[in-house]
Amino acid sequence: DDSEQLEPRPPVVTVMGHVDHGKTSLLDAIRKTDVAAREAGGITQHIGAYQVTVDGHRVTFIDTPGHEAFTALRARGAQVTDIAVIVVAADDGVMPQTLEAIDHARAAGVPIIVAVNKIDRENADPQRVRAELAAKNLTPVEWGGDTEFVDVSAKTGQGLDQLLETIVTLAELSELRANPNAPASGTVIESRLDTGRGPVATLLVQRGTLRLGDPIVAGTQAGRVRAMTDYRGERLKEAGPGTPVEVLGFDGVPEAGDRFRVVESEREARRLAQERAQRLKQEALARQMRRRVSLEDVLARAERGERQLNLIVKADVTGSLEAIVDEIAKLPQDEVTVNVIREGVGGITESDVMLAAASDAVIIGFNVRPVGGAAAAAQREGVEIRTYSVIYQVAEDLKAAMEGLLE
Ligand code: GTP
Ligand code: NA
Ligand code: MG
Repeated sequence: DDSEQLEPRPPVVTVMGHVDHGKTSLLDAIRKTDVAAREAGGITQHIGAYQVTVDGHRVTFIDTPGHEAFTALRARGAQVTDIAVIVVAADDGVMPQTLEAIDHARAAGVPIIVAVNKIDRENADPQRVRAELAAKNLTPVEWGGDTEFVDVSAKTGQGLDQLLETIVTLAELSELRANPNAPASGTVIESRLDTGRGPVATLLVQRGTLRLGDPIVAGTQAGRVRAMTDYRGERLKEAGPGTPVEVLGFDGVPEAGDRFRVVESEREARRLAQERAQRLKQEALARQMRRRVSLEDVLARAERGERQLNLIVKADVTGSLEAIVDEIAKLPQDEVTVNVIREGVGGITESDVMLAAASDAVIIGFNVRPVGGAAAAAQREGVEIRTYSVIYQVAEDLKAAMEGLLE
């Protein structure tokens, strides 16, 4: 029991949004406002995760290429994000990937802050962005809702202080705590094989303190912490909760989303890594035998008291989509609660499948089929896609499944 030893830790913030709305620019601009980074005489980004200090409060940002990475981490069971910043360009407005990013943050139960970017542009219309998002149940605080909107410009730096303050305030309300006095554990954020240095992993320490020389295991890879650097490439001897670090010393390359932990000895680390490899092999076999996310599984979970059926609904036209969602809403929900986590018009995409995998959802397609790599991804992730061409059949099947009548 480490309740006695819990200490405040920095929030971990993920920035998401539509392509080219300025996620990377915003992160670059934020980093420049960090006095320490400026003093270090360079803002070269050594790793995709870094920390800034705002009025004495540290904030950790994870610079993922987009919500695909966020979802991939979540699909692997990693919960690393405390706050999602959704970036929307004020001259472009809410776009498909903006809505996807919001779906992902909501499905993960992560609070959202909206950064309305590019307000320096002549045709910027930050009020329109508010209206568009209010229509999607993200109502600005100033309109009586509970979502913080901050107008910013990555170009001029306007609003960045307020954005950071908003993040810090939300983080304080969340009272994020962790025990620094324990063997370190956390999540692999990214990894690669460096030709000169060997396997390199960016780790987010979530509990305990990671130290040079610690024997470590991450997924199927073992090793010892031989070198540890922060986002500026500066050498560290130790790293506490909420800190991202780049680590050398793994025998092989662990995977993003792998959990890591420090153990007694390298020998123990190797044993655990081997055990894990063995288990993954068995699980892969089992998955081929049986799909992971099916209506039957949902029922099995319901019997164990997990009474939520997550659905993603895709249809060919708005009319049929609305009709299906209406039908679903009318289903008797005393046995299982049905939760439509995404609805949309168009083919079933790989992104739909990844959201389903991360949220244990079943995908319902009406007059649409999987497109691109969606079918392969569904196979790989064990996600069930059910396609229909008769609306009442959808509700009928779901009702039957919920009543436990499905064969
Ligand atoms: P992806 O990672 O490709 O999805 O894009 P992103 O969201 O990271 O956007 P990025 O930072 O690459 O910016 C896209 C373009 O918008 C670049 O040309 C930036 O210079 C420009 N840009 C970003 N922020 C601002 C801003 O506040 N004002 C203006 N005028 N331009 C901006
Ligand atoms: Na870009
Ligand atoms: Mg970018």
